[in-house]
Amino acid sequence: LFILVGLSLLSYLLGSIPTAIWYGDRYHGMDIRQHGSGNAGATNTFRVLGKKAGCFVLFVDAFKGFAAASLATVLYSFNLVDWQTCVTLKILFGFLAIIGHLLPVFCDFKGGKGVATTLGMVIALHPQAALVSSLVFLLVFAISHYVSLGSMVTSLVFPLLLQFEVFGKELPILIYFGFIISFLVIFTHRKNIGRIISGTENRMYLIPRKGR
Ligand code: G3P
Repeated sequence: LFILVGLSLLSYLLGSIPTAIWYGDRYHGMDIRQHGSGNAGATNTFRVLGKKAGCFVLFVDAFKGFAAASLATVLYSFNLVDWQTCVTLKILFGFLAIIGHLLPVFCDFKGGKGVATTLGMVIALHPQAALVSSLVFLLVFAISHYVSLGSMVTSLVFPLLLQFEVFGKELPILIYFGFIISFLVIFTHRKNIGRIISGTENRMYLIPRKGR
């Protein structure tokens, strides 16, 4: 129990690392939450501070989710838990990292939307579903140029892939978790939904368009 509580706390603290906020502050002397969409995430860093900064934040934020979920694999490799418990703990630790990202203890509990951290966790949890979901994201983004729409559609595709057993039989807890994540991602994007409906959501273009 002691190990479990310790690793849970560690996962939350890992998720709490406010990459976008610290990057903006350290290299640009600004609070990223006061610029662009106001979100402390990779997309807004990309939008406000450029590709290099955005990729860095994306990588670190995703790594937080991946590392937290992988703590369970360490327990499994030391034969401390069986496989099913390992999957359950991956979900628990990854989820706590996402909560840390949304509500970071280091930054007044005002964090990001959790998409990159969720991606990292899902890579650790179900690499095949992570790959297919990422392709869906790229497709939606390429068509709409809305990162937020891509994030929301992808968050729905992930549990549906599991529910319909596209990769074979899945543990029920994984499917439940997938739907909880969808709900969370859609909830954190509620302002984006309003902007998409009113046509004011910011579009992103990886290749600058002529005349823009
Ligand atoms: O990862 C968050 C993304 O889906 C939306 O970010 O800054 O456009 O609200 P943003």
